[in-house]
Parts: sequence; C-alpha cells; structure tokens
Amino acid sequence: MTDQTNTSPIYDTFAPPPMRFERGEGVRLFTDTGEEYMDFATGIAVMSLGHSHPALVDALKEQAEKLWHLSNLYKIPGQEILANKLCDGTFAEKVFFTNSGTEAMECAFKTARRYQFVTGAPERVDIISFSGAFHGRSLAAIAATGNEKYLEGFGPKVEGFIQVPFGDMKALRAAIGETTAALVIEPIQGEGGIRPFSHQDLRDIRTLCDETGILLIYDEIQTGIGRTGKLYAHQWAEIDTGHANPDIMALAKGIGGGFPLGACLATTETASGMTVGT
Ligand SMILES: Cc1ncc(COP(=O)(O)O)c(C=O)c1O
Repeated sequence: MTDQTNTSPIYDTFAPPPMRFERGEGVRLFTDTGEEYMDFATGIAVMSLGHSHPALVDALKEQAEKLWHLSNLYKIPGQEILANKLCDGTFAEKVFFTNSGTEAMECAFKTARRYQFVTGAPERVDIISFSGAFHGRSLAAIAATGNEKYLEGFGPKVEGFIQVPFGDMKALRAAIGETTAALVIEPIQGEGGIRPFSHQDLRDIRTLCDETGILLIYDEIQTGIGRTGKLYAHQWAEIDTGHANPDIMALAKGIGGGFPLGACLATTETASGMTVGT
C-alpha cells in the first residue's frame, strides 16, 4: 500500500533520517536548522578531501568556465593528463573514464569478455565473484554481487556470473573452467563487512589466473585512492613479491572527491578488444 504521508518526489530506495544537510566544510556537515555534525560516512568513502575543499572547488570552477562538456569523440587534454597520472607507477596502460563505480565495473566486465573474444576464446564468458561482494546496482553488477536481496524482482539474472564462498580457494579452483573469462575481487570487501583477502590469497589468485588464462579484475572503488594508506589496497600484497597486480581495475568514489567520476584501468593487451565503437 502507498504511504499517504510520504510526499517526497525522490524514489524510496533509501530510508534517510529526518535531518536535512545543506552545507559541508571539511569533516563537518551543517543542517538547514543550524545543527553541526562530524561526517564519518563521507558519502560512503567518497569525500577523500572532505567537503568543499578549496582546491577541488577552484579546479571545478575553472574547468566549468573553460569547457563544460566534450564528447569522447574528441581528444580531451585534461582526460589524458589524468589517465597518465593513473597509469604512472601502476600496472595500467589504458584508462576509460566513467561517471560512477558501477559503470567502471561494467567496463571491467566488458573489457574482460572482449579480450577473451578477440584472442580466440569466445566461449570464455563467465565471471567469478565471491560471496559478500558488492559491485554496484546495474543488472550486471547485481548479478556479480550475487546477493539474493539485491536480485529479488529484477530477474532474469544476467547470465555468466558465478559466486564462490568468500576466501574459499578450493571452491575457486573448482569453479574455474573452460568458459571462465575473469575473476573479480574487492581486495577488502566493503559492503561485505570490511573483510580483507589475505595477501597470500591475492598473490595465489594472481598465479592461478596466470596458470588458467583468466583475467584478474580488482574492484578498488571503495579501497582505492589512498583509503588503506597505499594508493591501492592490493599494493599491500606486493610488499614482498611485487606480484599481486590485476589485469583490470575499477576505481570511483575517492577519485572524484564527490564529483561523479570513475575509471576502468587495464593493460594495453587486456584492453585490446575495446576498439572503436565498442
Ligand atoms: C566495492 C564497490 N564497488 C562498486 C560500487 C558502486 O559504485 P557507485 O555507487 O559509484 O556506482 C560501490 C559503491 O558502494 C562499492 O563499494
């Protein structure tokens, strides 16, 4: 039944508390009645520089006055500068920018399937994820998330997504087969309860991917951009061996500091299927 007292024009997909925030400054939020709050949620790991950081505000103002929007049909110098920064010192050589983490994940899944397709393995379409994962709310992302609560009523579930129990390396090995395209991991599960993969597991998973010819996708949307003390969480696993790199990595949240921005990073080889028009 419809709640007659609910007059909000916003979709009822969240249940926000009654206060209304109208201003933010650094770590603080202010309501329309003048109450002050410390913001521990930070937009769910989004506000990497806090609210209204002057450097970010100035950069956005400057850009808005110079060039508001340009299609990807054209070369955009600022985009290339940022892409180079993201590639410097990481496994990545190619970047696709998006407006959100979910879109970055979509790009990651498409990049993986296309790579298998153009390198002669079109049967490799399945993407394996771990229980407790969260990869966004699009149809493919909820299929990868595998959580029945998110999938209910949104069927049919997008095909080609398989879950194995969190951290169960035996189940993972058993799930990999001739139709597996890629494996997707949050190095530390965020929505799943801040559950880290062990560094050894991350290194073993990299080796397993190399042995089986499947691609390793990291979802560092929540863990990336310095949230764990290194630029990316998986870099902690490389301290001894230097060998926990992914083939593809999705970023968002902190990368824009509140401005809607995401990115899918890949090696040149892995991105080779993403040609003009894909
Ligand atoms: C690990 C992870 N992946 C993907 C997403 C989806 O990102 P977005 O909300 O920017 O679409 C989130 C968002 O909470 C996330 O935490």
